Amino acid sequence: MKKACVIGWPIAHSRSPLIHNYWLAKYGLEGLYERRPVSPQDLPEFLQNLAAHGYVGCNVTIPHKEAALQHIHHIDDVVRRTGSLNTVYLVGNKTHATSTDGEGFYRNLIAMVPGLSLQGKRAILIGAGGSAKAIIERLLRAGIGEICVMNRTSARIEDLKASFGSVIKILPADHFVSESKSAALLINATSQGMAGQPKLDIDLLALPLDAVVVDLVYVPLETDLLKAAKARGLRTVGGLGMLLHQAVVGFEKWFGVRPEVTAELYNLVAADIEKEQHS
Ligand SMILES: NC(=O)c1ccc[n+]([C@@H]2O[C@H](COP(=O)([O-])OP(=O)(O)OC[C@H]3O[C@@H](n4cnc5c(N)ncnc54)[C@H](OP(=O)(O)O)[C@@H]3O)[C@@H](O)[C@H]2O)c1
Repeated sequence: MKKACVIGWPIAHSRSPLIHNYWLAKYGLEGLYERRPVSPQDLPEFLQNLAAHGYVGCNVTIPHKEAALQHIHHIDDVVRRTGSLNTVYLVGNKTHATSTDGEGFYRNLIAMVPGLSLQGKRAILIGAGGSAKAIIERLLRAGIGEICVMNRTSARIEDLKASFGSVIKILPADHFVSESKSAALLINATSQGMAGQPKLDIDLLALPLDAVVVDLVYVPLETDLLKAAKARGLRTVGGLGMLLHQAVVGFEKWFGVRPEVTAELYNLVAADIEKEQHS
């Protein structure tokens, strides 16, 4: 039986087992996806002996997404450009790694807003952490014209400029309203708005009516940002779809079937999130 897992330290909160075990059952595949706590000191040994530990691959989460790079045989261009990985798979007896957050973000966006063209357009990105980097890498490949980044810690935007060049612009908070007048896309890639975290305090009034507002946060499923955007008549995309779409790549590599992101899967994971929120 093929087995995959998610490794992290700690690992208690991952919803990946729910997603992958749903697909295994749906496609009638004999396999298992489990949570596996791996400490930073055990990480090199675990990745170097993935098959001996019984796995065909794994997802990698906090705090190992950067540290894992040096213990993988082959990393792809996305990992090279973003400096982090989240999916490991075996080819023969060699480990290969990719990063699927950017792809998950993009596929979900296109699924929710069919026909959306980003060619030459302006995006406003709030946040400059790991997910912001993954999104920038994917938006550049989609032909985005300019990405204005707003972040609490401005030094992190300088790092993004150093990695991705002049397509990245620094957006000071007091310029947000004026600069949002010509934005096609607004993305929250911070934890603001997540249950138990501070609210994201921005004013959407200047965004054009054809702009799309995306929130990576998926607890709650509909954040205050998305509610405010809907109230203005803007198109909105929540974070749960990205989580589901980013899982597709790993599942196909490990189990040999390209799985579908369906409403049934969305509802299954959404129900789990709602159950947690009300417990
Ligand atoms: N839907 C999905 O599939 C998916 C995938 C990945 C991530 N996410 C979500 O995206 C969010 C960011 O994840 P990440 O991996 O990029 O995390 P990260 O690397 O830790 O970055 C966190 C970002 O949030 C900002 N931030 C955190 N608390 C803040 C506060 N109180 N006020 C202002 N800014 C604050 C940080 O600003 P500083 O630089 O100033 O610290 C940074 O820009 C999380 O909510 C995560 O759950 C969702």
